[in-house]
Amino acid sequence: MEKDQRQTIYDLFDQESPIATEMRRLYSNIRHIDDRNPKRSFLVTSAVREEGKSTVASHLALTVARFRGKKSLIVDADLRRPKLHQIFNVPKEPGLYECLNGEIDPLDAVKDTPIENLKVIPAGRRVRSPAHLFEGDIMNDIFEKIKFYYDIVIVDSAPIVPVSDPMLISSVVDGVILVLLAGRTPRHVSLRARNILLDANANLLGVVVNNMSEVLPYYYDFKYYGYSEDK
Ligand SMILES: Nc1ncnc2c1ncn2[C@@H]1O[C@H](COP(=O)(O)OP(=O)(O)OP(=O)(O)O)[C@@H](O)[C@H]1O
Ligand SMILES: [Mg+2]
Repeated sequence: MEKDQRQTIYDLFDQESPIATEMRRLYSNIRHIDDRNPKRSFLVTSAVREEGKSTVASHLALTVARFRGKKSLIVDADLRRPKLHQIFNVPKEPGLYECLNGEIDPLDAVKDTPIENLKVIPAGRRVRSPAHLFEGDIMNDIFEKIKFYYDIVIVDSAPIVPVSDPMLISSVVDGVILVLLAGRTPRHVSLRARNILLDANANLLGVVVNNMSEVLPYYYDFKYYGYSEDK
């Protein structure tokens, strides 16, 4: 996947591309980890900043919406460094912040995309220290409601080592996907992320290895997103 600011995610998404294939594989893996109880809501996080969370969450959402025909929703829960409004080219407000603040109903924060069954809840107004917003019952209510109305919910979040938001969100989703940037994030930092999630009783489904800097061996293909069981 080449980075090109002029193109939107919709232009870039080629059904035959390696990333689309990898995302289909990822979705199939995470959904069927327990076949009696298929997973419908996923949190995407990483240990630290800029490991590729928003990229993975967005492509996964596109894949799910395009290939499975499900009513899909992607939520920008990274109120510190919001990105989904740019990626999907939707208004940034009102969004999750206004829902958490009790100003609006979550269904009123939903934005359309050119893909009929893919909707976005953007981050909303900027807030300097949002952690407390994720602590109250209102977050549970918001997620209960959106999980009722949408078949698949994907949540993009802040990194888990520096801030507590993603750990709090992990309790309202069926499973967590940890993105790991190959060649940069030190092993002990990735392990810390994993331990924070396991200590919070999060359902850690697996790790997506983002080979953005092409550090993995040739058989990983270039800029490949791999999946591995983590437990
Ligand atoms: N595999 C990849 N190939 C090329 N570019 C990539 C890849 N993964 C991520 N990027 C680019 O790296 C940058 C950071 O990615 P992204 O925004 O997805 O990370 P993030 O973990 O969400 O960051 P933040 O912590 O700021 O939320 C973006 O410009 C994105 O387009
Ligand atoms: Mg991001």
